[in-house]
Amino acid sequence: MKQETWSNQKTEKFREDLLAWYHSEKRDLPWRKNTDPYRVWVSEIMLQQTQVVTVIPYFNHFLSEFPTIKGLANAPEDKLLKAWEGLGYYSRVKNMQAAAQDIMERFDGHMPNNPQDILSLKGIGPYTGGAISSIAFNLAEPAVDGNVMRVYSRLFGIDDDIMLPKTRRVFEEKVRKTISRDEPGDFNQALMDLGARICTPKKPSCKTCPVKEYCLALKTNQVDQLPVKKKKEKPVPLYYVAIVLQNELGAYLLTKRPSDGLLANMWTFPLVEVDELTYKQLKHQEKFADHQELSLFDQVADESEVYLFSAMLTDYPNIKMKEYHHGEVTHVFSHRKWHILALEGRVDGLSSYQLKPREEWVYPEKFKDYPFPKPQQKLLSLLKKVENN
Ligand code: ADE
Repeated sequence: MKQETWSNQKTEKFREDLLAWYHSEKRDLPWRKNTDPYRVWVSEIMLQQTQVVTVIPYFNHFLSEFPTIKGLANAPEDKLLKAWEGLGYYSRVKNMQAAAQDIMERFDGHMPNNPQDILSLKGIGPYTGGAISSIAFNLAEPAVDGNVMRVYSRLFGIDDDIMLPKTRRVFEEKVRKTISRDEPGDFNQALMDLGARICTPKKPSCKTCPVKEYCLALKTNQVDQLPVKKKKEKPVPLYYVAIVLQNELGAYLLTKRPSDGLLANMWTFPLVEVDELTYKQLKHQEKFADHQELSLFDQVADESEVYLFSAMLTDYPNIKMKEYHHGEVTHVFSHRKWHILALEGRVDGLSSYQLKPREEWVYPEKFKDYPFPKPQQKLLSLLKKVENN
């Protein structure tokens, strides 16, 4: 596609039109109350993979829990993960804490005020670095995310595949040429708002777009073809059984995940990976009709109940799993799709169960103190539903 190059005059007029729209229409968002670098940083990290409406309450809560960079640097990890619970991509907050500690050491507790030092901090990449530089420090740096690529691909007819990492540079160059030198932070945020409210992925509101007269895609009737976004590979399915085990006192067996990798240090029921065939066989086991009225976690062992002594549970050889399940939850991470069957476990002589490292018996009243990832939250809602039936 033939891309456009604009004259200086046209570029200046574009800035004015975009900023005028932003000043009259901008969304009233809590992180826009002022341009304190810490607030800008927290909001931009939260907004990386999460929608604005979801972020608002988390942002307010996070700042009340950790009001300063120093507070964040010194926060206990469990409290930190708890404040992030439900937002996903937990490495974001762990990196933020590492960066806060780094800021305490290297920059006397203040966010550095130049792009190079900002980019040297853990978890801050070109997008977030650009957002902080422009919004908090008034530097004319691009902050290119998916929204901005969509807006610019349409404005200039850029048809590079936005799923390819190298494409971001193409857009950064374009933004560098067009960004307002006087109000770069507002300019970048105007692009974000335009992408979120007008220049949406589907059914964009071109009629009310404040910069429609500059849009090449609109002029050439190609708005629906841009941006070019080649399909991602499907996430790889993984299959698990969740061991739902309750002791005589009503506490559940929970385990803390390893300290690196996906969902590091978060708490779940013990999850045992199984192969697809085993999973599907288990999933299609019918519940036995005469068990329906039994309460889910009935501790009275009914000898007539059938338990699997499952050779596949090598980490839990002494736990027997009921042959039927209490339902399934699924959760999609970026490259994986987890399928989890909630199976009730039983140990003969429960009191002799030896807790493994990183395992605890936890009462439901204490769940609020344990950071649970989304799949665990879904499992708990599922079990609550079963219990109430
Ligand atoms: N998305 C990413 N950053 C944003 C911001 N500062 N305002 C609104 N939406 C955003």
